[in-house]
Parts: sequence; structure tokens; C-alpha cells
Amino acid sequence: MGKDGKETPFCQSNKCSCVVFLLIVGGVAAVVCVTLLVKDLRSIYDHDGGGESEAPWWKKTIIYQIYPRSFQDSDGDGVGDLQGIISRLWYFNYLNVGAIWLSPFFTSPMKDFGYDVSNYTEVDPLFGDMDDFDNLIKEAKSKGIKVIIDFVPNHTSNESSWFDLSRHAADESDPYWNFYIWNEGTTNPDGSRSPPDNWKSVFEGSAWEWDDVRKAYYYHAFLSSQPDLNYRNEHVLEKIDEVIRFWMDKGVDGLRIDAIPHLFEIANQSIDEPAGASNGFDENLHKYIKNQPEIFKVVKRWRAILDTYEAADGTSRFLLAETVGIPHEARMNYYKAGSVPFFFNLIPAKEKCGATATCFLEIIRDGMNLTEGQWPNFVIGNHDNKRIADRMGDVNVDAMNMMLLTLPGTPTTYYGEELGMRGGDYTGMTPKDPYAITSNNAENSRDSERNPMQWNDTLNAGFSNSTTGTWLPIQPNTDYMHINVEVERNLDNSSLNLYRKLAELRQKEAFQNANIEFPESVSDVLVYVRGVEGDRYAVALNFGEAKHGIDITKLGYTKGTLVLSTKSEKDKTIDLSNIQLDKGEGFIVHLDE
Ligand code: GLC
Ligand code: MG
Repeated sequence: MGKDGKETPFCQSNKCSCVVFLLIVGGVAAVVCVTLLVKDLRSIYDHDGGGESEAPWWKKTIIYQIYPRSFQDSDGDGVGDLQGIISRLWYFNYLNVGAIWLSPFFTSPMKDFGYDVSNYTEVDPLFGDMDDFDNLIKEAKSKGIKVIIDFVPNHTSNESSWFDLSRHAADESDPYWNFYIWNEGTTNPDGSRSPPDNWKSVFEGSAWEWDDVRKAYYYHAFLSSQPDLNYRNEHVLEKIDEVIRFWMDKGVDGLRIDAIPHLFEIANQSIDEPAGASNGFDENLHKYIKNQPEIFKVVKRWRAILDTYEAADGTSRFLLAETVGIPHEARMNYYKAGSVPFFFNLIPAKEKCGATATCFLEIIRDGMNLTEGQWPNFVIGNHDNKRIADRMGDVNVDAMNMMLLTLPGTPTTYYGEELGMRGGDYTGMTPKDPYAITSNNAENSRDSERNPMQWNDTLNAGFSNSTTGTWLPIQPNTDYMHINVEVERNLDNSSLNLYRKLAELRQKEAFQNANIEFPESVSDVLVYVRGVEGDRYAVALNFGEAKHGIDITKLGYTKGTLVLSTKSEKDKTIDLSNIQLDKGEGFIVHLDE
């Protein structure tokens, strides 16, 4: 406004308006160009999700794995469900956890408890319906919790309509003809049939099952009720793309790709595997049916789909690959393809190297053996492995959680591990897990670690109000009376409260990068330093059999203040030349610099 109250145009002549107009248009175009360019460069170097101003969400949060059957039952049938999960979403805010991963909840005959999917885009009635899922996403978003879902592309259930169409396909003109991996096998002199080769399934004997309708064998990496899809068939790829889009359109934030190393087998099915290649999960001798190079092209293809969603709203989508038993080179290739391969090696530490501090140091170094832009991740438990308390002893649970949450990268916690839950003792019971049944070996059973979540000390540990029992019993183990959310919430030095404090601490910038310093070697105590300039922390964890003293001054620091301990002490000044730690004790010291 001018002094006289009349508007004084900034520029009066037409020519001048033109110039101003062009300057504005030019300026806007330049800003758009630079933004696009920066965004482009960023997504080339790492998947940090375009528009997010700092690191993407999945680099900043803990991932909490939920096994839906066992987390919370809402309708009293003794099996957990989606409504149950919705009712417990507050818990993740309380825990300081920003992302959940749901094991399968899709339509399934439940031969492998949902890892045998008969319809990828439906919710199994046992878990609820699609409205429940939509509500779950909505409620989770409103609480700032990201949702990652399981994606099981390697195989379907034999009750999938795709499998039915494939076994009934008359000839190659039918698009379903090669949807699965069929082979007529060989005919013996007596007229009987044999599979084409010696390939073995993870769960049971031969990986080939005869189908009397198709008059051919089909290949199954896992149960015979889990036929493998044929990823050399473009129709399969297209159908699976649609599945991914379906869930992305629903608003999921990421996928955990199940059993990905099994996606391809060599094309020539008459070549036998090397002698010694046996059944079982962690088998590296499988030269022809695991870790084939074709996998990475497919992962890239899926990454590209997720990227379109990422580009549309600027929020990154996480692609996490379940990579059990892969060599280092394959691990690199999963990264290059735009996924993050789970680093599982901390789980078998006990069998592999005794779970000593030296053993952990070696594994962590291996986990950190990455190149620029490859984001680390660590995991210490899941639905396929014994619980930490059972593997490592109760005494080490808190130190294990302390390690997991203070290592660089994205940590994954399996439900109940924050409480120090033990697995169920189901030795007196017929196993439910098909792996134990088909391999005829109760030791292979994964029932123990799938025991229901312990919420409180009431009926069924608060997991379910069923009066006829839960799918896996809470009994015979009575731990739930004291190892449960309700009791631990009110106990200052409980595993749960320690976990929450660790989860809060790791939100500091000091823990949000990939820096870690180790001493050359360790004794019984694992030590490392995390941090940024001016804000550094030493973590010390005693994995030995007895009390042990250590001197951290070798790392170049002399004094510090205790910020967290597996015992309840806090805020005391620590002399770093003489730290005494009990067996299973761990603590974090803020270093004076
Ligand atoms: C993955 C799952 C496991 C399942 C198998 C077959 O390894 O983690 O639970 O049995 O795939 O789908
Ligand atoms: Mg239920």
C-alpha cells in the first residue's frame, strides 16, 4: 500500500510484468528441476525415500515382529487375530517401536500356519476380514506406526486356485500350464515313476510330489502342500506384481519377502545336487535349488514397483529379504537389488561359536562388512528359532536386547523378547509344527517360540478369553505369572522397562548412524563405542561365565556417566579403567570427551 492508501503497483508497464512473470516461472522451474535431481541422486545412492527430509523411517526405527496367531485373540477362539492386534497398538507407542511386521494373515489351509497361502489378496477368516485389515492400517497410521507385511512369493498352498488351474491345464496353450514347476520324471522298467533328480525339500524327503491329475511331479522347496511357483513364467511375475500393488494400494509400508533364496532352481532338472545336500533350513550345499542369480532381477522388479509408490508420496517403502543360508556375495546382491537382506548370524551364535564376547564380535564385524550406502540390520529371534532365554539362558536376555538395540542399523525384535519370555515347554505334546511332523523329529518343532504373548497374570496370560484352551497352551509353563507386560510395566528394573529405555535412547543421533568402534579383541566382555562427535557411548556386555573386570581406557576414553544398565543403577560416574560386570550384565556409559 502507498502512503495515500492507494495500491502502488510494484511494476506498472506491460514489459515489466512480462519480465517478472518470466522470472517467477523460471525460478519455479529451476527449483522443481533441482529438487527432482537431488531426489533422483538420493534414490540412486540409497533408498531413503525421496521426500523424507532426513533418513527414511526404516533406518530410524525398531521393527517388531508379530506372529498373528499368538499375539492377541479378540474373539475367544484361542487364536490371535487382527482385531486383537488393533487393540494392542498402544503397546508399540509405549515401547518406542515405530514399525510392526505381521507374519502371514492371508487365506490359507494353515498347513504351515499361513506360510501356505491360498489367496494372496484375502484375509483368512481366522484372523478377521479386509475391514479389519483396513482398520489396522488406519489405526496404526494414526499412531505413527508403520506396517510391514509378510509376502510369500516362492510358493502358494496346493489349495490355491492357481494350482488347481495348473494341474488341470491340458497343454501349453493354457497360461497356467507352466505356473508351477512340473516334471514327468522318469519311468522305471517296472512301469513305476521316479522324480527327475535327487533334490530335497527343506522340510521332508524329496522336493518332488507326484500329482495324479496332471500325471507329473511338481517341485516344492518346503511342504508338499506348498508347491513352488515358476518364476521363469512371465504370467507368474505379472500376477505377483498385482499382489504387491494390491497391498501397496492398501497403504502398507513395506514387505518382508519370505524364503527368497528358493525363488529359482536351475532350469535343467535332470542334474543331481552334490552328495551331502540335505533337508533343513540352513543348508549351503544346495547348488542348484538355492541362491540362483536370477533372483536379483526379480527383486529389482519388485523394488521398482515399491519405488513408484515412494515417488508418488515421498515416503519410502521397505523391502526386507528373508535370506537364510546365503553367502556374502548374495548378500551384496540383495542390497544392490534394492532390498535389505536380514542378517541372521547372531541367532545361531551359541551353536556356531559358543555365544562368547569374541564370537559376537566376529559376527558383528561380519554384519558390518558392507559398502557405502548398504544399511546394516541385526536380528536375534524369530518364529523359526528358539527364544533368546532358551538359547542363551535367562541371565543373558537383557544383555542381548541391549546389544541388539545399540548396534548400528535396523534391529528386529520378535514379540515377547522385550519381556524375556521363555518358549513354551511342549515336549509332552504332539507337535503342531508341520516341520517337526514331516521330519519326524520333535527337535525341529517351532511351537516353543510361537507360544502366546504374555500380557498379564489372568486367564491365558491375557492373550485370549477362551475357556477351551488356546492354539498353543500357556501351560504347562507358568512363567506368565511374573513374565508379562502388566507386571513388568510396574517394575522399574524389568526387562520390559529396560527395553523401553533402550528403544528411547537409540532414537538419539548417536545411535542413528552406522559408526561403531571396537577394540582389537575382547575377553569375556563385549565392548564397543557408538556415537557422533561430542556424544559418544560405550556399551559393555558380559557374556562370560563369571563376574569380570575390564579396562575401556584403551579405546581412548577415561571417564563417563552410566546412562543405562541391566541392573537398575544409573547416573553414577564410572572409572573406565576398572569396570566390574556380573555375568549377563550390560551397561551403557556416556563418555566424557
Ligand atoms: C520361511 C518362514 C518359515 C516358513 C517357510 C516356508 O522360512 O520363515 O516359517 O515355514 O518360509 O514358507
Ligand atoms: Mg481369534
